[in-house]
Amino acid sequence: MNSDEMKEKAAQKAMDYVLDGMKLGLGTGSTAAKFVDLVGAAVADGLSVICVPTSVATRDQAAALNIPLTTLDETPHLDLTVDGADELDEQLRLVKGGGGALLREKIVATSSDKMVVIADDSKLVETLGAFPLPIEVVQFGLKSSLMMMNAMASRVGCSGDIKHRMLEDGTPFITDNGNFILDCHFGRIEKPEALSGAFAQVPGVVENGLFLAIADVAIIAGEEGITTLELGA
Ligand code: 5RP
Repeated sequence: MNSDEMKEKAAQKAMDYVLDGMKLGLGTGSTAAKFVDLVGAAVADGLSVICVPTSVATRDQAAALNIPLTTLDETPHLDLTVDGADELDEQLRLVKGGGGALLREKIVATSSDKMVVIADDSKLVETLGAFPLPIEVVQFGLKSSLMMMNAMASRVGCSGDIKHRMLEDGTPFITDNGNFILDCHFGRIEKPEALSGAFAQVPGVVENGLFLAIADVAIIAGEEGITTLELGA
């Protein structure tokens, strides 16, 4: 089974958590897109759900599938969010934001009773940090924010390059919220809670890609089938 097929299997399993009448958060990325396709097919078959997308890309995908959409302003409390991750550990701590949607993803996930993460098994790691941690920062004072982030990170034992995310044409990546992304190449994040708290003290930081105590369930697809990790199980 290749990684694409594993993502599909994880997305299919996540459909077990979807019940008629639910208010759903729809994640962003290639794995979440497979779940959105499945929700679209279920809606075409008569499933009644209303959904909040976590990015413009997911909104466009869902709209094309005729999935009923709402906003958190209209529907501030959701039943379930299903989303992918760039990395996760056994404690269901996540690194997210590879696609740059971490802020909306975190707002939507924390507005939901339950967050289910779907991933292929390459995403499951012992220690977070091999995948560069994305941080959403305001455009104003970028260099100052970067310097402060470096200083705060080193206080909690993290160091490495912090790189301004660029598009292939050399222009800065801009999030759906009009901000920049800084990717932290730390290699290992031994204390994710401490790092998240440290970054929260930098005024230019809007949000970081560490999702801590947010995910409830992880559905991980591998060669041997599906593994479901659940907190407290
Ligand atoms: C986007 C995300 C995605 O969930 C994450 O990047 C995983 O994406 P993919 O399923 O394509 O590997 O956080 O901001």
